[in-house]
Amino acid sequence: MCGIVGYTGHRQAAPILLDSLSRLEYRGYDSAGLAVRNGTALAEVVKATGKLYHLADKTDQGRALAGCCGIGHTRWATHGDPSVVNAHPHVSGNCSGSGSGTVESDVAGVHNGIIENYTELKEKLLRHGYTFYSDTDTEVAVKLVDYYYKKYKIGPVDAITRCMVRIRGSYALALMFKDYPDEIFAARKDSPLIIGVDEKESYLASDVPAILKYTRQVHYIGNLQVARVAPGKVTFFDLNGDEVSVPLTEITWDAEAAEKGGYEHFMLKEIHEQPQAVRDTLNSLVKDGQIDLTETGLTDEMIREIGQIDIVACGSAWHVGMAAQYVIEDLAGIPVRVELASEFRYRNIPIDRKTLVIIISQSGETADSLAALRVAKERGAATLAIVNVIGSTIAREADHVLYTMAGPEIAVATTKAYSAQLVAADILAIHMAGIREKMTADQVREMLGELATLPDKMRRVLEEKERLQWFSSKMANTHDIFFIGRGLDYAISLEGSLKMKEISYIHSEAYAAGELKHGTISLIENNTLVIGVLTQKELYEKTVSNMMECKSRGAYLLGITTNGNFSVEDSVNFTVYIPKTDQHFMASLAVIPLQLLGYYTSVNRGLDVDKPRNLAKSVTVE
Ligand code: F6R
Repeated sequence: MCGIVGYTGHRQAAPILLDSLSRLEYRGYDSAGLAVRNGTALAEVVKATGKLYHLADKTDQGRALAGCCGIGHTRWATHGDPSVVNAHPHVSGNCSGSGSGTVESDVAGVHNGIIENYTELKEKLLRHGYTFYSDTDTEVAVKLVDYYYKKYKIGPVDAITRCMVRIRGSYALALMFKDYPDEIFAARKDSPLIIGVDEKESYLASDVPAILKYTRQVHYIGNLQVARVAPGKVTFFDLNGDEVSVPLTEITWDAEAAEKGGYEHFMLKEIHEQPQAVRDTLNSLVKDGQIDLTETGLTDEMIREIGQIDIVACGSAWHVGMAAQYVIEDLAGIPVRVELASEFRYRNIPIDRKTLVIIISQSGETADSLAALRVAKERGAATLAIVNVIGSTIAREADHVLYTMAGPEIAVATTKAYSAQLVAADILAIHMAGIREKMTADQVREMLGELATLPDKMRRVLEEKERLQWFSSKMANTHDIFFIGRGLDYAISLEGSLKMKEISYIHSEAYAAGELKHGTISLIENNTLVIGVLTQKELYEKTVSNMMECKSRGAYLLGITTNGNFSVEDSVNFTVYIPKTDQHFMASLAVIPLQLLGYYTSVNRGLDVDKPRNLAKSVTVE
């Protein structure tokens, strides 16, 4: 979703802001803008629709905007179409149709999130003589700040906190005030925002990769806090305007981790980083051959007491939950429900103190997952977050946190974070099984030994990529694809189907193989591609039969199965073999050919693999 950046220091702001915005492109956007001020001079605003290079061209790569303090924004439209006038920054004064130029305003701002009661606030401001040039909720927020600032003749921090009390919804705001030439004021509620500092410079951004090139010292501004950002110095305040301290965190991962490193796309790079992401995640959870979850704070006693697990997530993270359900129920014998966060938050699901709610999220900022976490806490459940981004809101608010070690994931379509989440869930299942005496110590050791072989086996699957590249070149014009499987293979199918459709724009569906004949099979016609996931021994023949039902109606069949299962070739048209492992861990291997199929199909169709249309990496609105 929208990306926010800010800079104040001794260098020219615009080139830095453009560079930082380029590192937030993965979040998804449809227009962009900058506001830069030069000492006491008013802010100059420039905006452009489309890709960031339009804004860079319009500002001569930032050189045309003089000044050492500024804010920037990439907008993912929510209120109002993607036009120049709706693009941020927005200002408290009136703007020309283009919304650009030197603007006679006291306040200029950028915003990420949604202000739910913006109509009511807009009416209030209209009554007080304000006029509006855009359709955005952001213009309302900026003008509301201006209103309190002038009405009560208070400082920026107090004006902002007054607004925060009035605004319903989510926001990360960065604002510049005419009377405070080299300062930026920021506020946050449920939308991500970080502040980086160096000796004499300060930076704001929606995410760490945007500023990693400039500093590794980062403050994670807390929910409902305000920051006053001066060159090299940041002060934080709570809603009462009282100063609070926010620790400085050193980012330890390398800036290169957020670069393409010779790969054509981030997605391909991240697919190849999966063995490492899995190894790092396992190493952080298994010490000296024993599972060690002390850092999560989950005690053995708590695990023994669990009566029900609810896994709540969105998209691919929800697919991890679907896979985890099979593994936890089978190994630990605990009943597991898997819920979409956007549904869970509005359902009255019975939850009690014996329920453990597990929120899975790469970004740790997904609005629906965060809301579900809060609902679960309100209802008295213990909460565990499986999160990749350290210090993210979900990580901070959950009772217990288990970090995956995938490193920064830039491509919108998740791959390595998904794989890291899968093994984290496997470890959790084994740990629970051991503590609840469903598995002996020897069985636990054996399972851990098998998990440790996964990174090498994943590498072997990656070696098959040329075959998958060749196969996808044949299917670039396909209209519909069905991914089918039973049990854990169904969970893998769900992820394979999402990977395909989100980046190739080919319609695809995942079905529990046995369910196809209850309606969906009527969609199968000559050459419809049906991909069967066949990794579960007891379910293999059943799914092959369902695939044959499709073949006899004209379908073309691709099967993904384990090495040595050569009889599959009697039934399907094209086979992909993956190494054998314990059946519970098959998802980690079978998903890789599916990711590669989606990736190469998108490349063959000439699409923007890393930034598919309409999508955002971190979905911070409801
Ligand atoms: C798909 C994808 C999304 C995310 C979903 C949840 O490739 O990446 O479906 O899995 O938006 O995001 P997080 O994990 O950040 O909560």
